Amino acid sequence: MTNEPGSTPFQVDLRRHLREREEDRDLTRVIYELATASRYIINSIRTGELGVAGTSNLYGETQLELDVLADRIIRKRMTHTGVIACIASEEDDEIQVVDPNGKYSIAYDPLDGSSLVDVNLAVGTIVGIYKGADVLSPGRELVAALYVLYGPRCTLVYTTGHGTHEFAMNALMEYTLVQEDIKIAETGNIYAPGGTRNKYTPAVEAFVSDLEDRGSKLRYSGGFVPDINQVLIKGHGVFLYPHLKGLPRGKLRLLYELNPMAFLIEQAGGAASNGHKRILDVEPEGIGHCEPVFIGSKADVAKVEELIRTLES
Ligand code: AHG
Ligand code: MN
Ligand code: MN
Repeated sequence: MTNEPGSTPFQVDLRRHLREREEDRDLTRVIYELATASRYIINSIRTGELGVAGTSNLYGETQLELDVLADRIIRKRMTHTGVIACIASEEDDEIQVVDPNGKYSIAYDPLDGSSLVDVNLAVGTIVGIYKGADVLSPGRELVAALYVLYGPRCTLVYTTGHGTHEFAMNALMEYTLVQEDIKIAETGNIYAPGGTRNKYTPAVEAFVSDLEDRGSKLRYSGGFVPDINQVLIKGHGVFLYPHLKGLPRGKLRLLYELNPMAFLIEQAGGAASNGHKRILDVEPEGIGHCEPVFIGSKADVAKVEELIRTLES
């Protein structure tokens, strides 16, 4: 969906983009409401006011942690769509049932990287959307996923299984299309390694050494959303938060962080693996399930899988 040469440029907004793709109206609504929620979240991040418009009535004068506030903003809007069955949030110990007959369920991390807010680094919201009431399904059952990146610009990246598309918030706080059908190259020269190196296992150490020998550039901010966004928008590279000595399941959560990102990256032609298999094929054992992750350019992910096969099995 680009402008014809010579024509007056027009801006494609998120709602129109979804409508033109003939996505289900209720799914469109859920995605659109998440986009609206992000306006309030970015406002709270930017101003530090934790009783933002639209929520102050509900929460009164109480000052909330930013991630708790972000959770409430999203939860409220999602509940009001009338189409949500279940809500699983990183900020909640239990899955909440909104309506057992609801059409969609969501699993989300309302504010990923919240410890980076104080130091003014970028943070994000990550959401996975499932059909029906079962959020404890493998990620291959996702019907849509998105993240919002609260950086110097506020951008939203979504997929409904037909490519991965980037939007940016404009002065009117509307999301307009930046890039449609983003593609990630087979191999890259950016790497974002999570965890501490002295805890790396032999295969992961060999993988990172190989990346360094190839002249890959270290690009790690400590925020999963900006770090993944860099790989996606630059169109190459790999992010890892591996299994570590003493932490065999890594740190990142399958439901709230890994599955939505894996869906988005696969839709851009990349890959996401736990070192043995596709992230989207991992059966969740519970809402807090963590997995190691290697995600980004396909050949880079295949390379680490091969090293793990040969050095660690
Ligand atoms: P959250 O703020 O939702 O708990 O998650 C932060 C995540 C992610 O953004 C990042 O990749 C990772 O934690 C970094 O963790 P460490 O700095 O603890 O290694
Ligand atoms: Mn998180
Ligand atoms: Mn979080």
